[in-house]
Amino acid sequence: MSLETEIQRRRTFGIISHPDAGKTTLTEKLLLFGGAIQEAGAVKSNKIKKGATSDFMEIERQRGISVATSVLAFEYNGTKINILDTPGHKDFAEDTFRTLTAVDSVIVVIDVAKGVEEQTEKLVEVCRMRNIPIIVFINKLDREGKDAFDLLDEIEQKLQLKVTPLSFPIGMGYDFKGIYNLWEQNVNLFSGDSRKNIEETIKIDDLQSNDLDKLVGEKAAERLRDELELVHEVYPDFDRQEYLDGNLQPVFFGSALNNFGVRELLDCFVKVAPQPRPKESSTRLVVPEEKAFSGFVFKIHANMDPKHRDRLAFVKIVSGTFERNTPYLHVRLGKNMKFSSPNAFFAEKKEVVDISFPGDIVGLHDTGNFKIGDTLTEGEQMQYKGIPSFSPEHFKYINNADPMKSKQLEKGIDQLMDEGVAQLFTLELNGRKVIGTVGALQFEVIQYRLEHEYGAKCSYENLNVHKACWVDPKDPKSEEFADFKRVKSKFLAKDKRGQLVFFADSAFTLQMTQQKYPNIHFHFVSEFEKVNKKAAL
Ligand code: G4P
Repeated sequence: MSLETEIQRRRTFGIISHPDAGKTTLTEKLLLFGGAIQEAGAVKSNKIKKGATSDFMEIERQRGISVATSVLAFEYNGTKINILDTPGHKDFAEDTFRTLTAVDSVIVVIDVAKGVEEQTEKLVEVCRMRNIPIIVFINKLDREGKDAFDLLDEIEQKLQLKVTPLSFPIGMGYDFKGIYNLWEQNVNLFSGDSRKNIEETIKIDDLQSNDLDKLVGEKAAERLRDELELVHEVYPDFDRQEYLDGNLQPVFFGSALNNFGVRELLDCFVKVAPQPRPKESSTRLVVPEEKAFSGFVFKIHANMDPKHRDRLAFVKIVSGTFERNTPYLHVRLGKNMKFSSPNAFFAEKKEVVDISFPGDIVGLHDTGNFKIGDTLTEGEQMQYKGIPSFSPEHFKYINNADPMKSKQLEKGIDQLMDEGVAQLFTLELNGRKVIGTVGALQFEVIQYRLEHEYGAKCSYENLNVHKACWVDPKDPKSEEFADFKRVKSKFLAKDKRGQLVFFADSAFTLQMTQQKYPNIHFHFVSEFEKVNKKAAL
C-alpha cells in the first residue's frame, strides 16, 4: 500500500468524558466491533477508583493498566483505528491534555441523566481551542435521563458547540424503544439486554410506513415523527467540512453497555472523521504525506519493573514512515538515535513493529533521553509545538528525607518531571525546590514512586500558592520589571527550563500584581511565546 493509502485509512482519536459516563464501556464495544477482543470485560478500566487516593498498590495497578490501554489499535472494514486512552480522573487531566495533542479527532461521551459534567467541560474546551473535530455520544439511553432536546441545548450552551443530531432516541429509560438514524435514515429497535455480544437490530427504512407504528406503538411513532420534524427545523444539516473545521458537532444517542447505537457511531465515524492531520512545527506546517519521517513524544511511561529503569516514550507519527533500526535525529539533543524494538499497540498486546505510518503511535524504549514534547526527524531542525505545561494548582516544598540518597532523589525527580507527572520549580531566593501539580493525587504518586523505583525518600511541606504563572515582561530591562523582581522576590521561581515563574498566593494578589505591572504578562501555560494564543488554550 502506498503512503497516501495508509494515511487515508487511518483514524487516530481519543474518547473523553467525565468519569463514569461510559468511556471504558464504549471503548470496549468499539474493540468488540473491530474484532479486536472477543468478549466484553477484556478492557480494564484505568480509572482510579473512588477512595483509592492512599492505596498505593491501586495506583501501581492502575499504572500497569494504563500502559496496556494507552493505545488501542484495531482494524474495522479496512480502516486502521487508533484509540488513545485518556485518564478520566481529574488529577490526571494534564495527561489527558497532552494526549489531546496527538489525536486527530475526539468522541465525547455524555451520560444522558447527568448531562454535561465538569470534566467534560474542561476537556471539550481544550478540543475547541485546538479546533479538534468532535463527535458527541449520549450514553445510557436505557436509563431515565434528560429530554433529548434539553440535552442538546445544554451541550450547546455549556460546551459552546454547534450540534446536529445524527441519531435520535425513541423513548428513554424504561420506555426506550430504539433510535432513528438520521445518518443512514433508518430505525434500529432496541430489543433488550445484550451485554456480551454484538446485537443485530431490526431495521425499517421508511419513517412514514405503518411498520413503525406496529413496532414501537402509534403514540411513540407519532412523537418520533414530530420530533424529527423539529430536528430538521432547528438543527443544521450535517456538513462534513464544518465538522472537520470544528464548527459543527454531530450527536449520536445510544447505550454502550447494551451495544446499542455503537455500530451507527462507528460506521459514521470511519466515514467522516479526519485522517491524520498536518501539524504546525517551529519552522513550518508539516503534512503527513511528506516522505521524510517526523513525530513527537506526547507521553512517557516508566517501566513497571523497578529493576529495569527504562521507560516507554509514546511517539505520534506526523509524517513519512517510521522504520525500525533507522537512525533518526533527536532534535533537542542534536543526536541520532536508532530503535531496535519499537512497539506497536493492539487491543490486548504490544508487538515489535518494522514500519509505522502517520497517525500511528510507536512506543520507544528509552533510557532517559526523552522528554514530553521532543521531536524526532530524519535530520530536519524543527520542533513540534503545542505541548505546554499547564499552570499547576497544588504546591508543596519537597525535602530530602534520606540524606544518603540525595543523588537518587535528584535523578528520580528529574525523570518523573520528564514524564510530566508534575513540575519542579526552584525558588529564586533560597534555592528551595517546589513541586507543582494539577491534582493532589500526584504528590502521593511521586512519593511512592521515588521510594519504589529510585530508593529515595522525600517529605513535603505545605506552601500557600494559589497559582503559578509564567512571567513575560514586555521589556526585560525596564524599571517596571526590575521593581517587580525586587518587590516579589520571595515569590519568584524558575521552572525546569529556566523560565521565570511568579507564585501568586491568592487570586486577589494576582489581580493586584497585574494591575500594578501592566507591561508584564502573566501566562497560565508555559509555551506562551511559541504557541499562538488560541492553540495554547
Ligand atoms: P468511564 O470509563 O467513563 O469512567 O465509565 P465506565 O465505562 O466504567 O462506565 C461507568 C458505569 O456506567 C459502569 O457501571 C458501566 O457499566 C455503566 N454504563 C456504561 N454504559 C452504560 C449504558 O449504556 N447503560 C447503563 N445503564 N450503564 C452503563 P459500574 O456499575 O460503575 O461498573 P460495572 O460494575 O458495571 O463494571
